[in-house]
Amino acid sequence: MKIIDGKEIAKNLRLKISEEVKKLDRPPGLAVILVGEDPASAVYVRNKERACNEAGFFSDKIIKSENITEEQLLEEVERLNHDPQIDGILVQLPLPSHINANKVIEHISPLKDVDGFHSENIGKLMQNKSHLRPCTPKGVMTMLASIGCEVMGMNCVVIGASNIVGRPMAMELLNARGTVTICNSKTKNVAEKVMQADIVVVGVGIPKMVKGDWVKDGAVVIDIGINRLDDGSLVGDVDFDAIKDKASAITPVPGGVGPMTIATLLENTLIAYRQNL
Ligand code: GUN
Repeated sequence: MKIIDGKEIAKNLRLKISEEVKKLDRPPGLAVILVGEDPASAVYVRNKERACNEAGFFSDKIIKSENITEEQLLEEVERLNHDPQIDGILVQLPLPSHINANKVIEHISPLKDVDGFHSENIGKLMQNKSHLRPCTPKGVMTMLASIGCEVMGMNCVVIGASNIVGRPMAMELLNARGTVTICNSKTKNVAEKVMQADIVVVGVGIPKMVKGDWVKDGAVVIDIGINRLDDGSLVGDVDFDAIKDKASAITPVPGGVGPMTIATLLENTLIAYRQNL
């Protein structure tokens, strides 16, 4: 069994990106908007800013009060849409409930939508024609490629059908010509589906939901979940200890998919830079 070292794969990707950046006339610019004081979001945003700086990007961290109106936030996005120094715009989710997150996402220029959440970019992903693809699923594909995992013809099971993770993940696997089953919270006999899978990808936010006896010997298991338990420890959505000796490869939490998401955000910002020239 191989533990997939997401940190190492992400580091190599970031290194490759920083080499590319050195050749450019101006640094690619990423604006990250954080609304309110959700502690987990604050950590994510800080990590994104640090990765940007290390790779030689220009990063603009914009912190707004929880009381910002939807209109004010849309104006901020509009300003960034027209800022020539900014190639990528990311609005950290979740947003406070008085703001319609979908309206904000749709207001980001699709050319600067480095999260790949705008309906135009999601539509292109469905047509296998996209330039800006959601970071976490795209990072998983990079990871699979880097361990030599062939998706074509494989049975792939995705657990979770969110707009950020499950749906685009399923589409990525389909685009790579896998045979994809998407499970949601109402799916009957999830264990039975997982047992058929050569590749399992889980992103639901339920600690250790996927049990050891669900997984076929030799399967590749990708865990997108990050759950903090009452004792302060971080665990994924799969029972790592029970699965690690059955899987041919598995991602740890932390140190698996998380670092890939951030490296892929930089990759997307560089793509946006090039298409915005
Ligand atoms: N919150 C949790 N994951 C993400 C992400 O990938 N992008 C944004 N914008 N917010 C998030």
